[in-house]
Order: sequence, then structure tokens, then C-alpha cells
Amino acid sequence: MQTAVYPGSFDPVTNGHLDIIERASRLYDRLVIGVLDNSSKSPVFSAAVRAEMLRDVTSHLENVEVDTFSGLLVDFASAKKAEVIVKGLRTVADFEYEFQMALLNKALNSHYETVFMMTDTKYSYISSSMVKEVAKYHGDLTGFVPQILIDRIREKF
Ligand code: COA
Repeated sequence: MQTAVYPGSFDPVTNGHLDIIERASRLYDRLVIGVLDNSSKSPVFSAAVRAEMLRDVTSHLENVEVDTFSGLLVDFASAKKAEVIVKGLRTVADFEYEFQMALLNKALNSHYETVFMMTDTKYSYISSSMVKEVAKYHGDLTGFVPQILIDRIREKF
């Protein structure tokens, strides 16, 4: 059984993340979404709430689990008995940073392969920060985040 982890802040999860999750869940026997709990980004939603939102939008995917983690990604991957780290690439601008992180993770533990998946072009401009900005000014979040999360995100702002 091959297990992959898909890490991120997911503050909040977007349709771009969900696109990667759905596609990665078809490639691996088990996909564990890792929600970073000690982000330096000062998240708006607590890790528990971010994980809950992810569970709600992935409930149709039987081989997907969600958990929070703090510390190193390679240690989380090891605890989950994963062999692969999945990351999404939206544009070439993401590449340089992701390349560096993949090499760093490989140096920390050579057991893990990072697999990059291209985000669908229709989501390439979406980020969690953009979603928060739109929500802050009461803009329409339709198409950016899963429909069932819209009210929960709006309430926060
Ligand atoms: N669709 C839409 N948006 C996407 C996306 C996709 N497919 N993929 C990424 N994004 C967005 C994210 O929402 C995020 O937006 P934001 O900056 O507005 O919050 C941005 O792109 C960056 O995403 P990512 O590179 O995945 O960063 P992250 O902050 O979500 O997660 C970790 C980073 C958790 C993977 C990384 O910090 C980590 O592994 N930390 C653990 C500590 C560690 O091991 N460090 C050593 C290795 S670097």
C-alpha cells in the first residue's frame, strides 16, 4: 500500500487544494492531508478548524485522512508511514521555492520523494491569502472555495 502526504497551511482550503487532493487520491492508496499547526503565517483559522473544514470537503474520498502536525514534514510523513510528499504547483513562481523545499526534505530524509502536481489552470491564481482578502471585503467566494465552506469563512470576517 502506497501512502502519500499532502501538507500545507490550508488557511482555508481552496478549490485549488481540493483539485490536487482529488487527483492525488486517485494515484495513491492512501492520502494523508497534513495541516501545519505552527505556521509562521499567523493563521486566521485554528489548525483544528482548518482540519475540520478539510474533513468536510473530502468526506466523499474514502482513502483520504486529515491530521494536524507541528515540527518537520519528514517526521510527520514518517509517522504516517508515507513514501511520497505531494505538492501542488500553480505557476513557475511556485517552482523555485518548492524545488528548494523538496531538496531540503530529501536532505533531511532521503526516503521521501516529492511529487509535484500541476494545479488545474482554472485555479492557478487562487491562494488562501486571496480568499481571505476577498472575504474581508465581503466579496463573492463562489468558485474559490468549496460551496459548503462559504458561510463558515464569511462568519470569521
Ligand atoms: N491551489 C490553490 N492554492 C494553493 C495550491 C493549490 N493547488 N497550492 C498551494 N497553494 C497556496 C496556499 O494556499 C498558500 O497560500 P498562502 O500563501 O496565501 O497561504 C501558498 O500557495 C503556498 O502554499 P505552500 O507552499 O503549500 O505553503 P503552505 O504554507 O500552505 O505550507 C508547508 C507549507 C506546510 C508545506 C511547509 O511549511 C512545511 O513543510 N512545513 C513543515 C516544517 C518543515 O518541515 N520545514 C522544512 C521543509 S521546508
